[in-house]
Amino acid sequence: MSRARPADRRLAPIQEVIITPIKPASWTFAEQFVAEDDVLASARARAEEVGVTPIGSGGGAALRFLAAVLEARTVVEIGTGTGVSGLWLLRGMRSDGVLTTVDIEAEHQRLAKETFAEAGIASQRARTISGAALDVLPRLTDGHYDLVFCDGDKREYSAYLKEALRLLRPGGVVVFDNALWHDRVADPAQRDEETVAVREVGRQVAEHEDLVPVLLPVSDGLLVAKKEWSGEA
Ligand code: DHB
Ligand code: MG
Repeated sequence: MSRARPADRRLAPIQEVIITPIKPASWTFAEQFVAEDDVLASARARAEEVGVTPIGSGGGAALRFLAAVLEARTVVEIGTGTGVSGLWLLRGMRSDGVLTTVDIEAEHQRLAKETFAEAGIASQRARTISGAALDVLPRLTDGHYDLVFCDGDKREYSAYLKEALRLLRPGGVVVFDNALWHDRVADPAQRDEETVAVREVGRQVAEHEDLVPVLLPVSDGLLVAKKEWSGEA
């Protein structure tokens, strides 16, 4: 006969249950599995100089993979930075594919263009638009894009999702960086504005009827979802 659980013994909170045997050394191994070259290293150095945080190498490799699987011709990026994620995306896209990348900082975009040039990317393959994402995105064409990568202001993530669902073709993919937001998203005690916004977009994506979602635990978390063929979104 099994004994009743004493009233004061609660189940461990879900975030404390260890559901993976993978040790930190293996996470590091996976993160570095696809090596970065000198061009990406100098783009990272420029990012450090101007104080922006690019996606990690594991997240970058995942972006390139997604662009390659989609044979992407048209990609939108929110948050150009110094071109780390943009270069990963361009390297996965078709050789005639065009990256449309939006950032509020025109100076950062100048550095991103240097990154792309150093990598030998033809200048017409990167369309940089400076301005606030929520001003620029409404001007882009509905249903025209294969992939939308969101890495701008975390507080605007739900608004980016709405725009992305309009911009994507059926079968297209939306991606959010920082889906785990420095381990804060999984910790319900963290209630700051950015954490709440990232947690909320995760919920919206997971519950959306016309999306096929996955949260990849690479870098700082990459939330990925395919817009279904049938859905009106
Ligand atoms: C930070 C990291 C990011 O990837 C980002 O998009 C914004 C901020 C950070 O670590 O502060
Ligand atoms: Mg980011």
